[in-house]
Amino acid sequence: MAERWSPDSWRKKPVLQVPDYPDARLLADVEKQLATFPPLVFAGEARALKAHLGRVAAGEAFLLQGGDCSESFAEHGANNIRDFFRVFLQMAVVMTFAAASPVVKVGRIAGQFAKPRSSPMEKKDGIELPSYRGDIINDTAFTPEARIPDPRRQLEAYRQSAATLNLLRAFATGGYANLKSVHDWMLGFVKDSPQQRRYAELADRISQALGFMQACGLDLESHPELRSTEFYTSHEALLLGYEQAMTREDSTQPGNWYDTSGHMVWIGDRTRQFDHAHIEYCRGIKNPLGLKCGPSLKPDDMLRLIDILNPDNEAGRLTLIARFGADKVGDHLPALIRAVEREGRTVVWSCDPMHGNTITSASGYKTRPFDRIVQEVKSFFEVHAAEGTYPGGVHLEMTGKDVTECTGGARAVSDEDLNDRYHTACDPRLNADQSIELAFLITDLLREKRAPKAKPLAAVSGL
Ligand code: PEP
Ligand code: CO
Repeated sequence: MAERWSPDSWRKKPVLQVPDYPDARLLADVEKQLATFPPLVFAGEARALKAHLGRVAAGEAFLLQGGDCSESFAEHGANNIRDFFRVFLQMAVVMTFAAASPVVKVGRIAGQFAKPRSSPMEKKDGIELPSYRGDIINDTAFTPEARIPDPRRQLEAYRQSAATLNLLRAFATGGYANLKSVHDWMLGFVKDSPQQRRYAELADRISQALGFMQACGLDLESHPELRSTEFYTSHEALLLGYEQAMTREDSTQPGNWYDTSGHMVWIGDRTRQFDHAHIEYCRGIKNPLGLKCGPSLKPDDMLRLIDILNPDNEAGRLTLIARFGADKVGDHLPALIRAVEREGRTVVWSCDPMHGNTITSASGYKTRPFDRIVQEVKSFFEVHAAEGTYPGGVHLEMTGKDVTECTGGARAVSDEDLNDRYHTACDPRLNADQSIELAFLITDLLREKRAPKAKPLAAVSGL
């Protein structure tokens, strides 16, 4: 019999990757304040997302999840949010139209501020300091003061998340996401690129199709699916004190608790020990959950985690996010898939082609070669084809900006280019061009897979 869960029951378990705050009083004070703040998302929205993910698990839709590795306080602003959102919409519309697949859209945004680190300390020029752990915890500057965990940063993270989400909701439902604007989502600085030409052609075809439907007498304005889109938020549930403070009981369904800091949260590859705090916290909330699956995860341990996190085998509750590295997918993924199939478990399989493909470039930057990212996605699809299972989604680190953080792509970023616009607060992200290039590639893979199954999915409105 499982022990009783409560929003704070994780505190009795061993915990990794959560900082030691020097000022415990201030921390308690901040958590108390956060607990009085309005929820950022509603239980009903998290339930709607779970239902959509249930359709993904059934092979009837595709999950697109992406955004910054780590959101940055300094970069918070309307332009960045808009640029991310429009690239994300472009990717979604490419997949929806060209692969005839409904796309469930989930951003790594409006709360993605806490980072697990491989090492607690960072060394530079002979000086050693505590690692940067994300803006919700400490600061990137390499000084002893900046690296002290400061609880007040959680209040700023809440404020920024609320403002970001507010703008995203406005973009999603206030007209910006209207399919009529499909051309307007193109970004000025990449208009000359092959990807944008490809996108412009697709946008022309969509406009023609809309014109045709209108000429046939369909009143497009009376269809909310064409005027707006559903967009959801997600982040890693790492800083458990913050997540606990945002955990609320659903007033419409007493006894059901939701983490109201985001629609979906995931458990990182470093904090998925079945008897530790992160699993304990996540098992009790009703949000859809992600679980990162890296090379060290054995099939038996995965099944045990599935039992804890999704004991009722609810469709859409659990997304397994495979992040092995391009050269390791074939070695690890088949055994996990077979275990899930053997035990009759319902999961969404998603591919994170970012975190297993990080290297240090000759110029000293942490980077990811675009070819390896593409290769991991392809291998993920191939393994699923061989196993007869459905590759349900992708999980990407990306930005709407024209950064130079990942090498390669059609407008090739070289090792030497990395120095030009390397802006990430943590891991290297796909830039706008690379993101759209990847979306076209996934579309080709998906088209082969899905075409015979395509049917309208009323529940996933919009693009
Ligand atoms: C991440 O998604 O930013 C991350 C740290 O991933 P993982 O837990 O898979 O390493
Ligand atoms: Co990352």
